[in-house]
Amino acid sequence: MDFDPRYNPFSLVGKTVLITGASSGIGRETAIECSKLGARCFITARNEERLQETMSQLVGDGHEYIVADLSTQEGIDEVCAQVSALDGVVNNAGVNRRKPMAFIKGDDLDYIFHTNTYAPILVIKSLLKKKKIANGASLVFTSSVASMSSDFGNAMYGASKSALTSYMHYCARELADKGIRANTVHPGMVETNLIHSGAVAQEDLEKDMLRYPLKRYGRPQEIAHMMIYLLSDASSWVTGQSFVIDGGITLK
Ligand SMILES: NC(=O)c1ccc[n+]([C@@H]2O[C@H](COP(=O)([O-])OP(=O)(O)OC[C@H]3O[C@@H](n4cnc5c(N)ncnc54)[C@H](OP(=O)(O)O)[C@@H]3O)[C@@H](O)[C@H]2O)c1
Repeated sequence: MDFDPRYNPFSLVGKTVLITGASSGIGRETAIECSKLGARCFITARNEERLQETMSQLVGDGHEYIVADLSTQEGIDEVCAQVSALDGVVNNAGVNRRKPMAFIKGDDLDYIFHTNTYAPILVIKSLLKKKKIANGASLVFTSSVASMSSDFGNAMYGASKSALTSYMHYCARELADKGIRANTVHPGMVETNLIHSGAVAQEDLEKDMLRYPLKRYGRPQEIAHMMIYLLSDASSWVTGQSFVIDGGITLK
């Protein structure tokens, strides 16, 4: 038999995918890569200009963007009303605010948990109610290595991502009879706006990178490729699992 260059078990042709947090970083790259593999993408975030920049980099036709704040019920309703039936959902929008434990306030918890934890749970709930998640679909959640380790000042974020990981296990269990799969992706530090927001000085980031066995932080595209695997039929027997992509930082 000859080599067939069209053979691709990671193809997303014929699949429709919702990607949240697609106006930058990991979400943007995931949308771009999904489109390159043939998916029709619904992308969402709050910033319209940056969403349009992502749209301009998508390949193929039929993609749509939805401007919405997922920390509000109105934003969640808007996204779930606009999308059509989905074969994949990448619950990726996320925020961080670092604080030592003694300084944590209720407002800080609301800020982090509304976007990182409540939004994915409420989005999936609403999509299920509206019967917009197709049988056999794949749900992916962007968690973090922070959910499985500890780091000074990052307790709220780590807890928000641990809760998300736990929720994923319940999704995998409750939705398996519809063939719907659920998994989390746990990146280490990735070069995006999230880590370059000024909360940690550039000098400290550069020192921190050297702790990684591969001596650098990740690139958004490297995380997107794991999303692709989980959205594609290549992972059709994979559910309820957590995938760490971290340049080796969690090696024991
Ligand atoms: N970078 C890392 O080192 C790292 C490591 C582990 C996990 N993660 C996780 O990866 C995911 C993506 O982060 P990133 O690194 O790509 O950071 P990023 O570039 O800051 O992207 C975050 C995305 O989330 C969107 N977003 C934030 N709040 C939102 C809200 N209330 N409603 C709707 N969209 C909202 C942002 O868009 P708008 O501002 O336009 O709304 C943006 O598109 C997050 O869940 C993050 O926790 C990142």
